[in-house]
Amino acid sequence: MAKLKIGVFGGYRGHTMINVLFNHDDAELVAVCDKYQPLLDRVKKEAEEKGLNVAIYTDFEEFIKHDMDAVVLANYANEHATYAIRCMNAGFHVMTEVLPCETMAQAVELIETVEKTGKVYAYAENYCYMRHAFEMQMRYEKGEIGEVQYIEGEYIHDCTAIWPQITYGDPDHWRNRMYATFYCTHSIGPMLTITGRRPVQVVGFEAPLPQEYKSTAIARGAGIEMITLDNGAIARSVHGDLKREPASYTYMIYGQKGMMEAARFPDKERTIEGNGIKATYTEQLMHVYKEGEEYCKGEWEDYYPEPPIAKEKALEFGTHGGSDFYATHFFIEKILGRPDGKYAIDVYKAVDMGICGILAYRSVLNGNVPIKIPNLRNPEERDAWRNDNACTTPEVAGDQLLPRTSKPHDEIPAETYAYHKRLWENGNQTLKYGTEFELKK
Ligand SMILES: NC(=O)c1ccc[n+]([C@@H]2O[C@H](COP(=O)([O-])OP(=O)(O)OC[C@H]3O[C@@H](n4cnc5c(N)ncnc54)[C@H](O)[C@@H]3O)[C@@H](O)[C@H]2O)c1
Repeated sequence: MAKLKIGVFGGYRGHTMINVLFNHDDAELVAVCDKYQPLLDRVKKEAEEKGLNVAIYTDFEEFIKHDMDAVVLANYANEHATYAIRCMNAGFHVMTEVLPCETMAQAVELIETVEKTGKVYAYAENYCYMRHAFEMQMRYEKGEIGEVQYIEGEYIHDCTAIWPQITYGDPDHWRNRMYATFYCTHSIGPMLTITGRRPVQVVGFEAPLPQEYKSTAIARGAGIEMITLDNGAIARSVHGDLKREPASYTYMIYGQKGMMEAARFPDKERTIEGNGIKATYTEQLMHVYKEGEEYCKGEWEDYYPEPPIAKEKALEFGTHGGSDFYATHFFIEKILGRPDGKYAIDVYKAVDMGICGILAYRSVLNGNVPIKIPNLRNPEERDAWRNDNACTTPEVAGDQLLPRTSKPHDEIPAETYAYHKRLWENGNQTLKYGTEFELKK
């Protein structure tokens, strides 16, 4: 069988998918597009060392003409839907990085494009495949703790030090424009894949701004979503740049017959080496409680979960708790019509995850009122959202532009962005306390 020919758009985070494609039995990397030449040079060099031929492009319009079966979109987080729609209309299967869409209008158009073209769409929410989250899904599906009553998802990642490296000092970079509840699917996604439930209502909150926001440019608080699921269960999601190290990606679920949770601080370090990649990550102990024949009596299990599917291959990829292999692998399996393709996240589930954050911000801006989450699987629920372009990107929102924070704030001084740009240009330096003094130089 000929290998699937796959191209990657966006070579920074996209390098994760590039690595998987360099080493996959059923697919090959044929093209990469990024406007930042050093990222392309790196891929070219790696491909040559492996004796592979990978075309490189700086222009998407040329890239999309390449002979490919599928495209991975790891470009800007707010532009995925636009490019996914273009790629599916051009005949390609598509997998996108997080997030699925920037607006409600895009959510509708994305779904309708998948339905119209019949192409495979997969959402690369890798946190659903983290060792503990995936294990919870497997055990929940077997009915081991009964139906969900309450669930928590947490993605706390303080990016302050690396902010110049991931925004390049560009005031218009999507990370500099994103609002509190936008980047929500690392915490919400696993709650929906573990339980298989659909969100029906959301109440959003924004925590206070970080006190140094004028020099760090992170002018938004952490995002919190309280979500009602379609069986009445309550889900709590929290994400953002709160203070803790290492980052936290943890989930906890209470069902009618027991509960599962992962340790809040990873404790077992494991170094994985394979395919030229060496990654060290820390494993999270999982705890599972199952009630027995009597009320309030049951048994605990405490263990480190192993990858449940394609274990040997998955173990070669250590990044993001071992989850980074699966998104690309399941996308390939789905295109090939294989059973494990069922673990790829489809467009409806992806949109459910993403619009929780979009609508949570409406709630935040309106005094934390509850907002109903439409079921966009139903065509009759789509028209109400078809022209809803509200977001924080002026070119997309037009007259529906939203503020990037609900909190009173001063504008970020131009010197802050200029300083971040200098740090990035001078060898990707990190941001340190004392930035205020640097800005005055
Ligand atoms: N799932 C995860 O664990 C995880 C981790 C990091 C980033 N991400 C996601 O990956 C995506 C990319 O993030 P990133 O960290 O790489 O930073 P980024 O968004 O700054 O990088 C995007 C890359 O795409 C390129 N690009 C964008 N538009 C382009 C265009 N029109 N033409 C040519 N090149 C273009 C940029 O040059 C850049 O290299 C985002 O969606 C982000 O949410 C996911």
